[in-house]
Amino acid sequence: MNQSSSEHSSSTLPKTDSDAYRLEQEHVHKVYNEIAHKFSDSRYKPWPQVVEFLQTFPGASYVLDIGCGNGKYLNVRKDLLMIGCDRSEGLLEICRERHYQVFLSDCMAIPVPENTFDGVICIAVIHHMSTDNRRLKALKEIVRIMKVNGQALVTVWAKEQEINEKKSTYIRKSVKSMTSSENESSIATDNELAVHTPRTKFQRSDCLVPWIKLTATYLRYCHVFVQNELDNLLKQLSNIEILKSYNDDGNWCTIFRKTA
Ligand SMILES: C[S@@+](CC[C@H](N)C(=O)[O-])C[C@H]1O[C@@H](n2cnc3c(N)ncnc32)[C@H](O)[C@@H]1O
Repeated sequence: MNQSSSEHSSSTLPKTDSDAYRLEQEHVHKVYNEIAHKFSDSRYKPWPQVVEFLQTFPGASYVLDIGCGNGKYLNVRKDLLMIGCDRSEGLLEICRERHYQVFLSDCMAIPVPENTFDGVICIAVIHHMSTDNRRLKALKEIVRIMKVNGQALVTVWAKEQEINEKKSTYIRKSVKSMTSSENESSIATDNELAVHTPRTKFQRSDCLVPWIKLTATYLRYCHVFVQNELDNLLKQLSNIEILKSYNDDGNWCTIFRKTA
């Protein structure tokens, strides 16, 4: 198998914010740009619980999809003013071809005034931030741009891929019968980022998840969240109320409201 420029397993956990920036640049943003079309082909089915959340908004509400990818939620409700933003130009180009309203932005610094949106969705994005501070910064940014009483749904990938003996779709679709001793935990030292074996349980919270495109493999950095981790970050914010937290097929999801 060829290795793409994004594949090297010698990456380490970031110690400083500039390390974190470099890691995400190499193992998140560069990767999404390189895999944009194939990634988009695999992401066409909106998750029902996200659609259900979008259904709660009155017509003509302003809703921002942060890290919108190929924009698969941007036409779920044609009577909302839905706008998307993302760090990947490649994915935004796909949104523009579909005539969606999108702009280039990092989710930790969104060029939008405070109190602008009635609602926000941020689906499977914050697990790509590589420090607690950066994950918190992204959550603060969601709250800043929402109006008081606005509601947000945030979902992140869960470390737990089996709950009450029910396996997530991600591990149910396992193609290899690999034991956990053959995967990431045994091959990386504490500070090194392990390469996760796709469609197996996560051994570590921080890892590089391979994306295979023809003969090249791209490694995406992910921080998989343990139960309550997302809510514990949100609880550091004084002006929100958590309305609902749940697990949706291998993802931790929280709906919250801006209170002030
Ligand atoms: C797993 S995809 C999810 C895409 C979309 N939300 C969905 O549900 O299909 C992660 C997305 O997050 C975007 N992303 C990652 N880091 C980001 C950042 N710092 N700021 C904005 N978007 C980011 C990626 O470009 C990618 O589109």
